[in-house]
Amino acid sequence: MMDKLFLLPLIGLLLVTAYGAATKMVYTDLDILEKLENFDIPEDDVADDYDPKVFDLPSFSSSKNMVNVDTFGAAGDGVSDDTQAFVSAWNKACGTPKSVLLVPQGKSYLVNATKFNGPCEQKLVIQIDGTIVAPDEPSNWDPKLQRTWLEFSKLEGVVFQGNGVIDGSGSKWWAASCKKNKSNPCKSAPTALTIESSSGVKVSGLTIQNSQQMNFIIARSNSVRVSKVMVSSPGDSPNTDGIHITGSTNVVLQDCKIGTGDDCVSIVNASSNIKMKRIYCGPGHGISIGSLGNNNSTGIVTKVVLDTAFLKETTNGLRIKTYQGGSGYVQDVRFTNVEMQDVSNPILIDQFYCDNPTSCQNQTSAVKISQIMYRNITGTTKSEKAIKFACSDTVPCSHIVLNNVNLEGKDGQVEAYCNSAEGFGYGVIHPSADCLYSHDDKGFDQSHTSGPVLVTQEAEIGHDEL
Ligand SMILES: *[C@@H]1O[C@H](CO)[C@@H](O)[C@H](O)[C@H]1NC(C)=O
Ligand SMILES: *[C@@H]1O[C@H](CO)[C@@H](O)[C@H](O)[C@H]1NC(C)=O
Ligand SMILES: *[C@@H]1O[C@H](CO)[C@@H](O)[C@H](O)[C@H]1NC(C)=O
Ligand SMILES: *[C@@H]1O[C@H](CO)[C@@H](O)[C@H](O)[C@H]1NC(C)=O
Ligand SMILES: *[C@@H]1O[C@H](CO)[C@@H](O)[C@H](O)[C@H]1NC(C)=O
Ligand SMILES: *[C@@H]1O[C@H](CO)[C@@H](O)[C@H](O)[C@H]1NC(C)=O
Ligand SMILES: *[C@@H]1O[C@H](CO)[C@@H](O)[C@H](O)[C@H]1NC(C)=O
Repeated sequence: MMDKLFLLPLIGLLLVTAYGAATKMVYTDLDILEKLENFDIPEDDVADDYDPKVFDLPSFSSSKNMVNVDTFGAAGDGVSDDTQAFVSAWNKACGTPKSVLLVPQGKSYLVNATKFNGPCEQKLVIQIDGTIVAPDEPSNWDPKLQRTWLEFSKLEGVVFQGNGVIDGSGSKWWAASCKKNKSNPCKSAPTALTIESSSGVKVSGLTIQNSQQMNFIIARSNSVRVSKVMVSSPGDSPNTDGIHITGSTNVVLQDCKIGTGDDCVSIVNASSNIKMKRIYCGPGHGISIGSLGNNNSTGIVTKVVLDTAFLKETTNGLRIKTYQGGSGYVQDVRFTNVEMQDVSNPILIDQFYCDNPTSCQNQTSAVKISQIMYRNITGTTKSEKAIKFACSDTVPCSHIVLNNVNLEGKDGQVEAYCNSAEGFGYGVIHPSADCLYSHDDKGFDQSHTSGPVLVTQEAEIGHDEL
């Protein structure tokens, strides 16, 4: 049951008299629409020189320099401390061209917080078939490495692969979180896997689970490709983001299944050209850009595409979250082909986000949000406000585009909410997002607010029949 039919005709729109005065605006809209519909992020520029066949164990063991952690004294019994064996094996593998650092299957290796630093000799493969587990006691954690467990930095053209598991044993960390118990101090906790200051890195097949805090961070890196990675942490584990991208460009995540206690994916400052393809999310807090702008900081995220996702019982769907007082911008984002099941806040822009212990005041500056497209988004919502654009009074959201969005309430009505948001829609839009077109005067061309325009079939673009 559709509330309304919005059609944005390519040619027809310009001919509609009501829009006569808004020709300039409309041309701009069409430019933006074309850009949002068509911009792409290259997928195939990562570690291309790898022939997948060479990863066929054991045939490649002869042609490669195999560096097995067991050879360096790792016990793999889940009890003995294997940190030193891993460090020695790393030094050997990193220093030898065409090495395979092997973590054998069927064993469990207890490894302390460790930084594995490059640069390494060329064509390093990190083959994780077994399990790597973290010591579970926070009070014994190396205080100098409070934020990391396994960190890899300054790598170029490295492949992480295998069917192994990286297990943060995080339950004691979660219990010690101030999110769990307000009398606990708010302290950071380690990230299970971090890839830092690297380029041309491929991560494939691994499972990352029960991290102390975030599961997997990609930081200050370029050209990273993550595929068939599974992240699994309990829905009530605090701040356990699935995959967190910061300061990174040209990152492709595909065929990842993420269930966790915070965002399935979070993309923050200084990140651009990020593509997510075929992502399963749930439980979790959804797929997020942000948070950005905390503590009056600058946040810039551009060119993000999510294509094909299924979100199940998450507390948010597609979210952009920014703090009051920030600066910078989020621009050129396309969320497309997303199915939601029992999701709260399926489509959400929140410029009043606040996750600080003290409340956040409204301010005059904010991270500017513009050119955001939601296309072919369907499913069921748990919250009445299925579409919510809560934008700053002083820094409105602009050029929000909706195309074929159909969100049904489980029981009862659903609605759209806007504060200081402007945009347009075409195709089916349910709940109807009239508030996006009927903004008050915030510096936009009023003649563009006259609501839906129906035109002939021939003039429509990308419209699916009701
Ligand atoms: C692992 O960390 C614990 C606590 O800091 C320490 O007692 C132990 O020696 C560490 N093991 C290695 C191999 O560094
Ligand atoms: C919260 O922490 C305090 C102090 O450590 C403790 O006394 C209390 O039992 C904890 N509450 C819960 C619900 O775990
Ligand atoms: C965001 O990234 C920009 C550009 O790299 C940098 O100048 C700025 O300090 C970053 N902001 C924060 C909060 O880290
Ligand atoms: C906020 O930013 C100021 C100035 O950049 C810095 O001194 C302060 O430590 C920051 N506070 C927090 C909580 O990050
Ligand atoms: C951010 O800037 C505003 C306005 O200048 C100021 O009132 C506020 O205290 C600042 N907040 C922080 C956390 O520094
Ligand atoms: C819409 O998205 C769903 C996935 O959620 C996909 O199966 C379907 O093919 C898409 N429809 C179109 C017209 O692209
Ligand atoms: C901030 O501004 C928004 C939009 O005008 C308003 O809904 C909200 O109540 C304000 N929050 C505070 C803390 O003043």
